[in-house]
Amino acid sequence: MKLIFATSNKGKMREAGEILGPSFELLTSAEVGITEDIPETGSSFRENALQKAMYIWDRFHVDCMADDSGLEVDALGGAPGIYSARYASLGLEGAEAEKVNHDFSKNIDKLLYELTIKELEAMMAGSPAPERTARFRCAVALVLDGEPHFFDGTIEGKIAYERSGNGGFGYDPVFIPDAYPDMSLAEVAEEDKNRISHRGEALRKMARFLKES
Ligand code: IMP
Repeated sequence: MKLIFATSNKGKMREAGEILGPSFELLTSAEVGITEDIPETGSSFRENALQKAMYIWDRFHVDCMADDSGLEVDALGGAPGIYSARYASLGLEGAEAEKVNHDFSKNIDKLLYELTIKELEAMMAGSPAPERTARFRCAVALVLDGEPHFFDGTIEGKIAYERSGNGGFGYDPVFIPDAYPDMSLAEVAEEDKNRISHRGEALRKMARFLKES
């Protein structure tokens, strides 16, 4: 099946190709001529995923899908959440924001800094250190004949104190999955990450739906 995947994120594209396998021919938005950033202005993962998929549908009227994903950290009240890709640029404007926008390394720096602040605050108040529990969430929106279908996935884990590993992308070097408590997601083999990941769960649900319908 031919499907346009509304993303320019190479890490996501590679993982989706591995998870869905050879019966899916995935085309990126760039491969169909979309070079601009597709807007993401929704207030939930599902809304953003649908907005990206509909951007493709409205232009080409072909079957397409998009995912929106992000990291939720309990001690930070669920942040960075839907702002995961541009966490470090929140509150900045213009050229300053552009400089750090989508910079995975700066996003991790900010995350570790915010957690350190929370720990210091707890220490000063004589409270126990906050938990570093977190999860990645993924919502996939599939648009078939103009009709939306949603598939969700989650992976639970904890935020490490420092980076380790070179695999994956985004926050992987500081995310310790519950399924592999001795390593970061960037140290887990790609096929194992795909087996346990939020994106793996959501995309396999989509593949099952397409097979059954
Ligand atoms: P978006 O879905 O394109 O808005 O971006 C989601 C952001 O969440 C990515 O840029 C990453 O920072 C983060 N993210 C989503 N999935 C993963 C993952 O599997 N590993 C690490 N970071 C992720």
